Amino acid sequence: MGTIWGYGGLGHMSRARAPTPLFLLAPFAATEDRVMRPTWQGKAGRSPLQALYESDQVKQSSLQAVHQQRRELLSNVCNRYTRKRRLLRPDDLRHLVVDDTHGLLYCYVPKVACTNWKRVMMVLTGQGKYQDPLEIPANEAHVSSNLRTLSEYSVPEINHRLRSYLKFIFVREPFERLVSAYRNKFTRSYNTAFHKRYGTKIIRRHRQEPSDKALERGDDVRFEEFVYYLLDPRTQREEPFNEHWERVHSLCHPCIVHYDVVGKYETLVEDANYILQLVGADTAVKFPSSSKTTRTTDDMTAQFFQDISPFYQRRLFNLYKMDYLLFNYSIPSYLRIR
Ligand SMILES: *[C@@H]1O[C@H](CO)[C@@H](O)[C@H](O)[C@H]1NC(C)=O
Repeated sequence: MGTIWGYGGLGHMSRARAPTPLFLLAPFAATEDRVMRPTWQGKAGRSPLQALYESDQVKQSSLQAVHQQRRELLSNVCNRYTRKRRLLRPDDLRHLVVDDTHGLLYCYVPKVACTNWKRVMMVLTGQGKYQDPLEIPANEAHVSSNLRTLSEYSVPEINHRLRSYLKFIFVREPFERLVSAYRNKFTRSYNTAFHKRYGTKIIRRHRQEPSDKALERGDDVRFEEFVYYLLDPRTQREEPFNEHWERVHSLCHPCIVHYDVVGKYETLVEDANYILQLVGADTAVKFPSSSKTTRTTDDMTAQFFQDISPFYQRRLFNLYKMDYLLFNYSIPSYLRIR
C-alpha cells in the first residue's frame, strides 16, 4: 500500500478537474510580507506570525525551542519521504479555519481538542459576540457557517493568507486518536448516523454470519472489525476516509502548508496558551481545560490493540506511519510488530 507516501488521500475526488495552482510557500516568508493590515491586535502591533519569528531571534525560551524542533523535524521528514510535491487546490484547504482579525489559520483535526479550538476561534473572530469559549454549545462550534475556512476564499486571497498568517495545527498519538474515534462513533448509542452510514457496511463486509439486527442497526461494530474496514482496499477506493479517522497528513497537508506551530494533545494547555500569547489574546481568552473522565488514554488504547493480531497491527501501523514520523511519535510499546 503506497498511499501513505504520496498525497493520494483526497486527491481522487477531483482528479478530472485541472488543478488550480496555488503558491507554494517558503517556511519563513514572514519578513517579506508587505501587505500587513493595521488591525493586528498582537503586542506592539505585530502579527502573530511576526511575534513568533521575531522572538526567535532574541533569547529563546525552552518552549520556543521545543516548537522550533517540532518545525524542523516536520520539515526534515517531509524532505526525506515526499517524492514529489503537488500543488494544493482550494478544496484541500477545507480544514483550515481562518481568523482574519488576528491573522491565524488553524487546521482542525477531529479528536484532538477540535471542539474547544473551534470555540476559541469563534471567540477570536466574533468581534465581541462571545467572551468565554465555554458559553458556546459544542454543536454550535461545529456549525460550518460559524467559521470560515480557507477553501472559501479566492486563490490570491488564499495565497496571501498562507504567506502572512500564523498557521497552526494540533496533533495526537495516532492510535490513541484512532481508538478515541472508534469509541466515540461506534460505542455510543446516540451516534446513530455513524452506525447507519459506516457501521452497517462494516458489519456486512467484515463479520461472518451477522445477525439481521446487527446488519440493520450497525451499532455494535467491534474494534477488530473497524480495523479490517480501514485496511480493506475497497474502503479508500470508494471514498476518502471519514475525517475522524483520516490521517492528519491527508487532512492538513503538513508537507505543503508549512505550519508555524505544531501543538500536541499531550501538552494541550501549554501549547494552546503559547499560541494565544503570540496572538496577544492570552489575557482575554482562556483555553477551556478539559475535565473529561472518559478520555482515551494510552493504557486504554493498548487494551484495544490486544485483540488485533501482529499481522494487522503492522498493516495498521503502516497506514498511519506518516503521522507517526511527521509528528515524532514513537512506535507504541504495546504493539507486537518487532
Ligand atoms: C522526539 O521525541 C523524543 C521523545 O519521544 C524527544 O526526546 C525528542 O527531543 C523529540 N525530537 C524532536 C526533534 O522534537
